[in-house]
Amino acid sequence: MTKPTPPIVSGALPVLGHAAEFQRNRPDLIRRGFVEHGGVFSLKLANQNVAVVIGPDHQKKFFMETDGRLSIQEPYTFLKAMFGEVLFLAPHDKYLQQRPLVQELFKREKMLHYVNVMQEVVQKWLDSLGDSGEIDITSEIGVLVQEVAGNCFLGPEVHQAIGREFWDLYADLGKALDPLLPPNLPLPKFYKRDKAKARMTEILRPIIAERRANPDKYNDFLQDIINKEGNDGQPVDEEMVRNLLLGLMFAGHETTAGQAAWTLIFLLKHPDYLQKVLAEIEEVAPAGVHIDPKRMVQLDHIAWAVHEIERLRPSADMLMRVVKEDIEFGDYLIPAGWLVQVAQEIGHKLPDQFAEPERFDPLRFSPDRAEDKQHRFNLFGFGGGTHKCTGMNFANNEMIIITALMLRQFELELVTQDTQILRGLGANKPTKTIVRYRRRELAPAEPELAAAAGD
Ligand code: HEM
Repeated sequence: MTKPTPPIVSGALPVLGHAAEFQRNRPDLIRRGFVEHGGVFSLKLANQNVAVVIGPDHQKKFFMETDGRLSIQEPYTFLKAMFGEVLFLAPHDKYLQQRPLVQELFKREKMLHYVNVMQEVVQKWLDSLGDSGEIDITSEIGVLVQEVAGNCFLGPEVHQAIGREFWDLYADLGKALDPLLPPNLPLPKFYKRDKAKARMTEILRPIIAERRANPDKYNDFLQDIINKEGNDGQPVDEEMVRNLLLGLMFAGHETTAGQAAWTLIFLLKHPDYLQKVLAEIEEVAPAGVHIDPKRMVQLDHIAWAVHEIERLRPSADMLMRVVKEDIEFGDYLIPAGWLVQVAQEIGHKLPDQFAEPERFDPLRFSPDRAEDKQHRFNLFGFGGGTHKCTGMNFANNEMIIITALMLRQFELELVTQDTQILRGLGANKPTKTIVRYRRRELAPAEPELAAAAGD
């Protein structure tokens, strides 16, 4: 007998269904569906049926299915107007060609270099802060992460020459994100997007040409993409270089900035745990000491805090696929044409997976508790399966570096006490949060850091 389609969550309005509530407060809507019906239920966004699946086994199925059955490309089609056919926005055969190329950009020796660049950039920012003051940690870290991305991906020379203009143009691309409207409507935001893309092409064209002529002169992401060959043995063409660069920056910068800011905010809200972090920094990587890979892996308490933020404040709070062939989840059948989604903010808080799931408790990731190890798919802030985030280690390392360097040089105090989650079309982030800072007296002069980086 054919299984039924998933039961619908309460509160659907005529015509709109749950669309208005979904836009206003999707976590509450999804939480309600879970309470009413358990791990598989449905919503209606106008005339689009959406199945929501929650729980590690359903999450596993969602991530492990083939693109042929659950398409990742289709729900994100609106991104193509910005980035073209790149990564999972490309047809599957093209995606399979691009994926190893992108994975290679993040291999271990590259990462060691990026971690050094991260430290230089973060240190430069800390030096610019003076001895004391107040900052909005959300926007400051947003700019800092742009600086890191600019220096690692474009390289310091290019970033210095075009960095600010590049990010302004990039903002125009972001403002044109629109999953509903056809991307070619004659609207000012789409016109601005196309103008920004044209200007970026104009800026990057001579840079790419110069890089092609000097394949050994630079050590950055841009050069690595340019030096690569596709499966056909031909160099990656200019448009693809540009799209990969933009696509990776999009995937990586707001997501990382949001979780990095939350990590500091939560640590400041939890002084007992903060003391453990400070003691660890003092022992493993006190001020002025370069954080090499050996030290990095000893910063366990920071790493656990970073994981706990992935769980409690994921930058991506839902992931979508289009069902291409009828598929079963538990007792239900989800027909082709439906959307299916997983929801981190609910899936990360199941009490049978995480003890006291609402509590900030990074020690749950310590080896003796290892709550994330009881099921491979109970924590999925970076996705899972084929499309698991390629930049996960890059992002985690960056968040660890920002946290360690900031805390070891400054005493911090939260001025804003009621930070909320700001949800957008891209990544979630904290609302404006003022932090008061004072330079610690024992922090040595920073040239030592630069010198140590060459050890
Ligand atoms: C805290 C920071 C980050 C978070 C929370 C995050 C989250 C995610 C998630 C959830 C996915 C899976 C999407 C899906 O299955 O629908 C993903 C994929 C991806 N991410 Fe990230 N990401 C972060 C940082 C980065 C960085 C720094 C980069 C690169 C610079 C990056 C590059 C990618 C790429 C290329 C994919 C697609 C993988 C594929 O389909 O093969 N991400 N990310």
